[in-house]
Amino acid sequence: MNPVDLIIRRAYPYETEKRDRIYLALNENPFPFPEELTKEVFRRLDGDKMRIYYDSPDKELIEKILEYLDTDFLRENNVSIGNGADEIIYVMMIMFDRAVFFPPTYSCYRIFAKAVGAKYLEVPLTKDLKIPEIEVGEGDVVFIPNPNNPTGHIFEKEEIKKILKKGAFVALDEAYYEFHGESYIDLLKEYENLAIIRTFSKAFSLAAQRIGYVISSEKFIDAYNRVRLPFNVSYVSQTFAKVALEHIGIFKERIEYIVSERERMKKALKELNYSISDSRGNFVFIFMDKRERDRLVEQLRWKNIAVRSFREGVRITIGKREENETILKELEVFR
Ligand SMILES: Cc1ncc(COP(=O)(O)O)c(C=O)c1O
Repeated sequence: MNPVDLIIRRAYPYETEKRDRIYLALNENPFPFPEELTKEVFRRLDGDKMRIYYDSPDKELIEKILEYLDTDFLRENNVSIGNGADEIIYVMMIMFDRAVFFPPTYSCYRIFAKAVGAKYLEVPLTKDLKIPEIEVGEGDVVFIPNPNNPTGHIFEKEEIKKILKKGAFVALDEAYYEFHGESYIDLLKEYENLAIIRTFSKAFSLAAQRIGYVISSEKFIDAYNRVRLPFNVSYVSQTFAKVALEHIGIFKERIEYIVSERERMKKALKELNYSISDSRGNFVFIFMDKRERDRLVEQLRWKNIAVRSFREGVRITIGKREENETILKELEVFR
C-alpha cells in the first residue's frame, strides 16, 4: 500500500467540534486569560525579536519555571518546553521503542502512537483503578497522567515507583497538577528514568498559546532537545507564559474556585446516587454503562451542552458556577 494510504488507515484525523452554548468537553479553564496580563504581554512584545528565530526555550522562561517549581535540586538543564504538553508526548513516542499506557487514560497517547507508527501496548487499569501488573523494561516509555484523565483519581507513589524500578522510562503527566496541589517531582532526585510533564493550558488559561514543559535529568532533556523541532514554541507564547508566572496570585484564586466547584459537584452527584471517581482535576467523572452514557450525552446535546464520552462513562469539565448548576439540574432530571 502506498505510504499516504497507510497513514490514513492507521492515524486519526484531528477534528474540531462545534462549540456549544455550554462546552465542558476539553478540560479548558472557564476563565479567560486576564485582560490586564494580555495588555502586559503586548506592551513587552518587541518587533525586533519577531524578526529572529527566537530561543526556545528562552533562558528567562526556564528561570521562572524553576522559581515556580521551587525545589533545591533542579537546574536550568533539567527543564525544556514544548508546543503544548502534547508536543512533548508526541516527541517521546519517537524517542522510545514502545509506549505503554493504561486506559481509561489520556486519549492522545494512543492517537500520537498511531500517528507516528510507534509500537504501543495498552493494558487497562484494574477494577479499583490501580496500575496493572505488567512486564516493562528498558526501551519502554510508560505514560501515566496524575491526576488521571479522565477519572481524575491519584495514583499512589508506590505504584509509580514499581514501574520505575523495572527500568522503564516513566512520563508522569501532571497536566492537572495545580488542581490537586501535590506533585511527585521529588522522585526525580531518586530516578533518572523519569520525566514530569506539565502545561500552561489548564491552570493558566493558555490552551490557545500551546505551551507545556518537561522536567527530567540533564541527559533526558538533552536528548529531547535534539529530537524536537528547533524553535518549537513561539516568542509570543513564551512571553504569555512568563507574564502568567509573574502573576501566580491571580491564577491561584481561580484554581481555588475551580477546586471548590469540583468538590461541590462531587457532593451533589453522590447525593443523586451517581457513581463517580474521586477526581482531583478540573473535571468530574461519572461511571456509566454504554446505554446510559449515550442517553445522557444525547440529552445534554439537545440542551446544547457538550461533555466527553468514554467507554467507562462521562467526563464533565468544571465550568463557571452557572454552567455547573445548569448541568447539575440536567443530571437531576436524568436521574
Ligand atoms: C493528561 C493530559 N496531558 C496533556 C494534555 C495536553 O496539554 P497541552 O494543551 O499542553 O498540549 C492534556 C489535555 O487535555 C491532558 O489531559
